[in-house]
Amino acid sequence: MVRTLGQKPYFTDRLTRQDTGHGFLLVAWQEEVAVGDVYVWLAPAEEPELRAHLPDVALITHLEVLPGRRNAGIGSELLRVAEELLAAFGHERVALGVGLDNRGAQRLYGRCGYAEWPHGKVATTEVVYHPDGTHELRPEVCRIMVKPLNQHQRPTPHQPSLTGSRCHHRNPRFPRNIDWS
Ligand SMILES: CC(C)(COP(=O)(O)OP(=O)(O)OC[C@H]1O[C@@H](n2cnc3c(N)ncnc32)[C@H](O)[C@@H]1OP(=O)(O)O)[C@@H](O)C(=O)NCCC(=O)NCCS
Repeated sequence: MVRTLGQKPYFTDRLTRQDTGHGFLLVAWQEEVAVGDVYVWLAPAEEPELRAHLPDVALITHLEVLPGRRNAGIGSELLRVAEELLAAFGHERVALGVGLDNRGAQRLYGRCGYAEWPHGKVATTEVVYHPDGTHELRPEVCRIMVKPLNQHQRPTPHQPSLTGSRCHHRNPRFPRNIDWS
C-alpha cells in the first residue's frame, strides 16, 4: 500500500487507530497495486462545529485515488463501500469536509447524494504528507457535506464485512478488476 500511495506515517497511524476501534481503512487494489483508499473516522470529530451539530456522526476522510487511476469509478466505489458498511453497522448518516476549491470532489459527493449542511463553512487542519516522510499542517476551510444512510441495508454474503483489523471484500457488482481490503 505504501509503495504506491506513500504516506507511511499516515497509514501507520490510521491502522493503529483502527485496531482500537477508532475507525476503519478501506483500500482499493488493482492487480496487487493499491490504487485508492478512504478512512472512516468513527471517533468524536476534531472540529467543535461537527461535534455540536452532528454528534457521533461517522466521517469520510482522506478519500484518494492514484492520479493515473482517476476518472474510472474507483473514488465513487470507495465511497459506496464505506457507506454500505456504515449503514450495515446502524449509522443513520455520514458526513465529510471538502476544500472550497476542490470542485472535482464536490461534484463527486453531490452526485453521490451528499448535500452541504446549513451551518456554514468550517476551519479544519489538513495534514499533508510528503514523499520524504515529513508532514506539515495546513489550515483548510471546508464545506461540510452530509448524506442520510439507508437504515434497512444489512450485510449479505455478497456485501462487505469487517474482520479484525482489515476488511476483505469481493463483490461482483464492483468493477471487475478491483479488490478491496
Ligand atoms: C476526488 C477523487 C478521490 C475522485 O476519485 P476518482 O476515482 O477519480 O472518482 P470517480 O472516477 O468515481 O469520479 C470522477 C469522475 O470520473 C467519472 N467517471 C467515473 N467512471 C468513469 C468511467 N468509467 N469512464 C469515464 N468517466 C468516469 C465520474 O463521472 C466523475 O466525473 P466528474 O469529474 O464529471 O464528476 C480523486 O480525484 C482524488 O484522489 N483527488 C485528490 C484527493 C482529493 O481531493 N480527495 C477528496 C478529499 S475531500
